[in-house]
Amino acid sequence: MDNSDGRRLSVSLVDVTSGHDAEFQAIATHFEALLIRKDYGRAEMIRDEAHPLRFYAVRYWTDATAAERCHADPEVQALTASLYRIARVTHVVNGVHKSSAMRLMLDDRRARIEADRRTGFDRRVKDVGRAAGERRTRNRRIGPRRVHDPGAEVDLIGAARRAREHADAAFSHFKVGAALEAGDGTIITGCNIENATYGLTICAERVAMFKAISEGHRVFTRIAIVADTAAPTPPCGACRQILWEFGGNLEIQLANMQEEKGTYALKDLLPLPFDARLL
Ligand code: THU
Repeated sequence: MDNSDGRRLSVSLVDVTSGHDAEFQAIATHFEALLIRKDYGRAEMIRDEAHPLRFYAVRYWTDATAAERCHADPEVQALTASLYRIARVTHVVNGVHKSSAMRLMLDDRRARIEADRRTGFDRRVKDVGRAAGERRTRNRRIGPRRVHDPGAEVDLIGAARRAREHADAAFSHFKVGAALEAGDGTIITGCNIENATYGLTICAERVAMFKAISEGHRVFTRIAIVADTAAPTPPCGACRQILWEFGGNLEIQLANMQEEKGTYALKDLLPLPFDARLL
């Protein structure tokens, strides 16, 4: 996208619920026509060839006010509501005005990290039990360099709020959502999942982290955690440990359904951590 004429780009990841493909196609077609008819811009739906029910919704707004008018349009809101009923939508880029939005997201961040650093996991495995570990200074940070780019306007809290809707909290009725940002900009979400034995319950944060690890991510920048309570919900002790070991000194954003409640560095929530450096 060219920055000079004021156009804007938004990208969302859309995971359609199985069996709703046709309905989704109808909504997407309707939305594309609507954007052109009302001169908001244009939309494109790109199917992920590796995941038949996953799409990348790319919107090219005419300008910033067109994007705002579109979001406020009742016809658009009705369409979005029907989309949310049949798909999980993760907003990846909202109205970024950098000319290289996609490049920044998909290439540059990854290149910046991987060109000069091993991932946290590789470093840990390699360093365990080696004498070199003793040369480390006391406050040496474990995990990758933080590469969060505030300019990219990724709606991490929004993603955590949407993930929370999938929480399976039949016993505590306390639903939590988490959204973890990987170094390449990917957002991996999680929700808490409870079961009849209670003890096998897994928190939203660990679901997000284990999903991410299982999908090959090794570098992380931030995690947003959302619950529907006035007081923010910080990660439990077990989650702090897992987040530290796999994500290093993550930025932790706490929020409820209405507002942000504060940002913390994980090292402040987990002072004197135990990790592979001590093995
Ligand atoms: N829970 C989370 O998912 N994350 C937190 O940070 C705190 C607690 C879940 C676990 C359990 O399903 C419910 O909330 C009540 O403890």
